[in-house]
Amino acid sequence: MKIIVTKDYKELSAKAAEVMIGVVKQDPHAVLGLATGTTPLGLYAEMIADHKENGTDYSRVRTANLDEYKGLPKTHPQSYAYFMRKNLFDGLGIAPGQTNIEDGTAKDAAAECARYDALLEALPRDIQLLGLGSNGHIAFNEPGTPFGSGTHTVTLAESTVKDNARLFDDISQVPREAFTMGIRQIMQAKKILILASGENKADAVFKMVKGEVTEQVPASVLQLHPDCILIADRQAAAKL
Ligand code: F6R
Repeated sequence: MKIIVTKDYKELSAKAAEVMIGVVKQDPHAVLGLATGTTPLGLYAEMIADHKENGTDYSRVRTANLDEYKGLPKTHPQSYAYFMRKNLFDGLGIAPGQTNIEDGTAKDAAAECARYDALLEALPRDIQLLGLGSNGHIAFNEPGTPFGSGTHTVTLAESTVKDNARLFDDISQVPREAFTMGIRQIMQAKKILILASGENKADAVFKMVKGEVTEQVPASVLQLHPDCILIADRQAAAKL
């Protein structure tokens, strides 16, 4: 794993944008695996600023997101589909037909997982962006998820519900279940970019980079990926 430590979140976002923009410049048809959460917001703002200033073209990229809350339609302001449209896709002029995400409202969850797995097989990602859960999760693959897992539904760990409550009016509104891309498909991406910011990620960063490769720390699997870049700010990298 290549590790880049930055002085702060701003520099982390700028460095991450260099990597993402580099992939799109190299191949305008690139398939981008994308993440939600707080960590990529600075990166997404940098990508939009670059698109406006330098005209980096996203008209031919395709995207696949990691996860979606179960039960939320894509028009729901807390859904990840809505988050992506508001924080990235509209700013880059990416049309809905270029994007992919699990359907949170799917009645038949098993069929929806199978649909998304088939889609991912047909759409190998050139880069997969990841955030890191404070418990070491990647996407919503919580500790204990088999490394060979495909797209599946999960009951979120209590720590994840607490971490995500800041984005809702009240913790009772945080959905307890989600669809998530599996670890197997994350590892299939040609390149992985994982971002970590802030001291509450320091333990997870340490375990991911220096700990044993174990299903108890899902992110530790990234030690086995041939082209994985971690960009962490000083606080997140404090225990390395
Ligand atoms: C988001 C996702 C999650 C987050 C992780 C970190 O699509 O899959 O794994 O990346 O929970 O979240 P933040 O960035 O909010 O700390």
